[in-house]
Amino acid sequence: MAEKEPIGVIGVGWVGLVTAACFAELGHEVWARDIVEEKIESLSRREVPIHEPGLPELVTRNEARLHFTTDMAETLAHARLLFVCVDTPPTYSGDADLSRVEAVLGELGDSSDHAVVMKSTVPVGTGRSIQRRRPGTGYVSNPEFLKEGSAVEDFMHPDRVVIGAEDASEQFADRVQALYDPLDAPVVRTDVPSAEMIKLASNAFLATKISFINEIANVSEELGADVTEVARGMGLDERIGPRFLQAGIGYGGSCFPKDVQALKQLAGNTGYHFQLLTSVIEVNELQKRRTIGKLQKHLGSLAGKQVALLGVAFKPNTDDIREATSLVLSGRLAGEGASVRVYDPVAARRADGLLAGAQIAESALDALDGADAAVLVTEWPEFRELDWAGAVKERMRTPLVVDGRNFLDRASLVAAGFTYEGIGR
Ligand code: UDX
Repeated sequence: MAEKEPIGVIGVGWVGLVTAACFAELGHEVWARDIVEEKIESLSRREVPIHEPGLPELVTRNEARLHFTTDMAETLAHARLLFVCVDTPPTYSGDADLSRVEAVLGELGDSSDHAVVMKSTVPVGTGRSIQRRRPGTGYVSNPEFLKEGSAVEDFMHPDRVVIGAEDASEQFADRVQALYDPLDAPVVRTDVPSAEMIKLASNAFLATKISFINEIANVSEELGADVTEVARGMGLDERIGPRFLQAGIGYGGSCFPKDVQALKQLAGNTGYHFQLLTSVIEVNELQKRRTIGKLQKHLGSLAGKQVALLGVAFKPNTDDIREATSLVLSGRLAGEGASVRVYDPVAARRADGLLAGAQIAESALDALDGADAAVLVTEWPEFRELDWAGAVKERMRTPLVVDGRNFLDRASLVAAGFTYEGIGR
């Protein structure tokens, strides 16, 4: 068997750690390098700092092949393919902040043996500009499409692998492609700007799908249709497909809001006004706030009312709260004079101090105690398992539920005497 190529991972955040652990699982020696010493120390003790199913097991199982380090020289000495996985957060203008990418490039030197393999999401055009500044070194674009909560599964069973490279870097791209051979996924070999655009356009399209179904939901509420039925009927059309048609209280997370904004901004920088994405963003912002109106419809003024928020994370199976709807809602509720108690099985501790004075409850029942309304923000399975007809109903002051994800069993809640407000039904 040919020897497996050792690889470097620069930036051991969520994407970097998943990438490192999965390549180690595929049999590669991996040097995973980060500048944050405490992070490297705890990873060296095999402590995984994020909630991601299957990841701790991978890190432990591949202990011998995973080398966590702060030392760039050590990484460069062992690995030729350097997967750059640093953050590219949005700036105030909506452009991506590339300062961490730049810092890494500054440390890499100009050896023609090494190639940057860009996993971080960067603006279209970034790769070519880096190549112009670093002639003679390799550059490959290899965007990630991992979903939080199923990242390990997504890495091992990708819908596609996208690899962008040009000219002399093609030989590095061949080596990157070989890494993915065991995964048996379709590979899209293309130029660098197209690879960069595939990433942004995919996320923008999925966000568009969500904002679209959310608007169908809002209109359905007025016209007597049920959006879950509508989505079921639409989704059977193969051209549409059933996924990402769940109406709710808006998309969040570290990717969709940032990438949609970045693509809109990138277009704007060229003088093109991306009308559709402008609306996608606006619809999402309004969607997060519509819950307030639903509560007011039943409770009148929210001043002095107690509201339980079930879920803080931007979606289940993660403790990530970036751009989570819970943050917007708690702020709006506080602004209306309501007192808010939140519960999340894993993410609440991350939100401490970010929830506009909301109290963090120890359990869902604790959050619901004395509440005038419950708002389901994140579809954690345990919220469906609650004894709504019994323990919950006894504790709540008013049996009102706003189900922000159409997740709870509406019929049994109504039968138990709850007032139920879903999204688009
Ligand atoms: C997303 C992309 O799916 C992934 O390919 C990319 O690499 C990173 O961004 P992630 O942010 O982990 O992944 O979350 P995802 O599962 O895609 O959900 C994003 C948001 O959309 C969540 O807030 C979710 O609640 C919302 N959503 C999703 C809906 O409101 N309705 C849907 O039908 C699907």
